[in-house]
Amino acid sequence: MIYSRITGTGSCLPGNPVGNAALVATYGLDSTDEWIVERTGIRARHLAPAGTTASDLAKVACEHALEAAGRAPNDIDLIVLATSTPDFIFPSTATILQDKLGMTNGAAAFDLQAVCGGFIYALAVADKFIRSGSHQCALVVGAETFSRILDWTDRGTCVLFGDGAGAVVVEAGDKPGIHATALHADGRYRNILAVAGHLSGGRPIGDPFLRMDGQAVFKFAVKVLAEVAQEVIAAAGMTAEQINWLVPHQANIRIMQATAKKLHLPPEKCVVTVDHHGNTSAASIPLALDEAVRSGKIGAGETALLEGVGGGFTWGAALITL
Ligand code: UT7
Repeated sequence: MIYSRITGTGSCLPGNPVGNAALVATYGLDSTDEWIVERTGIRARHLAPAGTTASDLAKVACEHALEAAGRAPNDIDLIVLATSTPDFIFPSTATILQDKLGMTNGAAAFDLQAVCGGFIYALAVADKFIRSGSHQCALVVGAETFSRILDWTDRGTCVLFGDGAGAVVVEAGDKPGIHATALHADGRYRNILAVAGHLSGGRPIGDPFLRMDGQAVFKFAVKVLAEVAQEVIAAAGMTAEQINWLVPHQANIRIMQATAKKLHLPPEKCVVTVDHHGNTSAASIPLALDEAVRSGKIGAGETALLEGVGGGFTWGAALITL
């Protein structure tokens, strides 16, 4: 039986953290540090400087993940990169990353777009490639520069997001690491979180910025995250009591606390980085996982439930032992 297992994690955050007060002052927002902290749990986020792209952040995250796994770039035979803020329309950010990592072995590389659900989708895809026997050693990446698609006059969205990248190395093995994954989407909800602009004749047409019905997204997220958590636990043949850590998409502390409560997990068993990362979309789960692993919070042999939800709407979960 072939299993897949995460053997290394890495991350990258650009520049210095930008606190709420500085952000509000810089953009002249009608907002306060108190409002942002109370409603979201966010205190600071990182913003990529001009010229820094998703592949730049991904490169650094992958280098750290490769080092942790004891792997060289040309050991990788598959890159699955989740992003909604790619460097270009094409080529894919995954192939740009491949070049920046110095890979020359012809590994498969592609982007995957499931917005904030993207990392779970990418992890599930890599897991299935590895379990099928077709690939042995994958880089699974979430990399975003959401600051580029924010309307900096819209206080309801621009205070929420940040930039960054997280990566994991996933390898074939004979011990279960990724026990089960579950993926879902419901396109009927595509309008409650969207960047609806598009290109025509080389020019942007329509609204190029992120728009969100925050309350609708909040309610949707709380409901589906609880459901998919139960689904993936059942699929793994495990119980909620066997989960040591919850590593959720980092969008809002209140959503994370609600999910932990539904799983009867104490709040301290929920990995929280939204306070200093903001919402980094597809990068948020691997960023949180890397921080928890490197700080020694999540130890080898411990079990973690990863789950994400985002525009589309997409949502999913993965139950893993590290
Ligand atoms: O990653 C994808 C998933 N995304 C999410 O999970 C986001 C989910 N949604 C949320 O996290 C929350 O809905 C928000 C944080 C976006 C908003 O919090 P809320 O408690 O739902 O606030 P609200 O939208 O009901 O707005 C309450 C008030 C409004 O003013 P009025 O109409 O009551 O006068 C807003 O205009 O707060 C106002 N407001 C703000 N005030 C100060 C909205 N943004 C801000 C702000 N500063 N930054």
